[in-house]
Amino acid sequence: MFPQVNQSDTYEDCKATADWLLARTAVRPSVGIVCGSGLGGLAAVLKDQVAFDYKDVPNFPQSTVHGHAGRLVFGTLKGRSCVCMQGRFHLYEGYPVQKVAMPMRIFKLLGVDTVILTNAAGGLNQDFKVGDIMIVKDHINLPGFAGTHPLVGLNDERFGVRFPCMSDAYDRELQQLAVDVGQELGFGDLLKEGVYSVLGGPSFETVAECRMLRKLGADAVGMSTVHEVIVARHCGLRVFALSLITNQAVMDYDSQEKANHEEVLATAKQRAEQLERLIYTMVARMEHHNNNNNHDDDD
Ligand code: HPA
Repeated sequence: MFPQVNQSDTYEDCKATADWLLARTAVRPSVGIVCGSGLGGLAAVLKDQVAFDYKDVPNFPQSTVHGHAGRLVFGTLKGRSCVCMQGRFHLYEGYPVQKVAMPMRIFKLLGVDTVILTNAAGGLNQDFKVGDIMIVKDHINLPGFAGTHPLVGLNDERFGVRFPCMSDAYDRELQQLAVDVGQELGFGDLLKEGVYSVLGGPSFETVAECRMLRKLGADAVGMSTVHEVIVARHCGLRVFALSLITNQAVMDYDSQEKANHEEVLATAKQRAEQLERLIYTMVARMEHHNNNNNHDDDD
């Protein structure tokens, strides 16, 4: 038996959480949004909100990080029913990786078909500037190489297959939609695309680690998102992810730059409004997929 077998919530646990929420809101979300560090403002844009503190939601972990509010907000965005995580969970908080990603299963059982994830990340690609928005086209799951992977343990086929494909994890159409919407909104020049690499954190990377990640093909580095993406794809959700480049990863021993959380939050604050507009305009334009029969007709 695997030592971590008991670390993931069972299908029944997840169902109980989803049913608890569905009994307390009339919103039937088709879009799930995960807000990264300092990017929780998107939830404020939701109309007719019903919000739950994570601490009140059965089986839900709690957010321990400054910049993450710790609320699950239901509501409508341009006429689409959405659920928004204001604050997410990270490996460095001490949660098992299965718990970090468990909200994706709740999304699925709530009827969500598309997940949008945002994060703050350090830029490894020298063409990226602080404040750029990277459309994630692929990821490198470094903790996964060492077995820290959210699907380790017994597989429940009700969620998905034992060996899910990840070569198509990030939906191409949604990436194109982001480019189109970004251009229309007048900040196409901020949009980049690239590969996101996740590390466990909480320390920022050394110069040697940044150089290694760049050589491995990563354009940005952060401490989140990938575990959620894997679990979302496992249960058939369509995925779109954005990284806000909040700082330049330090690649040079002569550099005076030092990565720090304050800079991350300050950049997030500056760009939050544009990022929010990008996302809610995308949501308004999105075609919906087939998780269930819940299609809100239009804005
Ligand atoms: N490294 C890791 N995670 C991050 C960074 C970084 O430079 N910036 C924001 N999140």
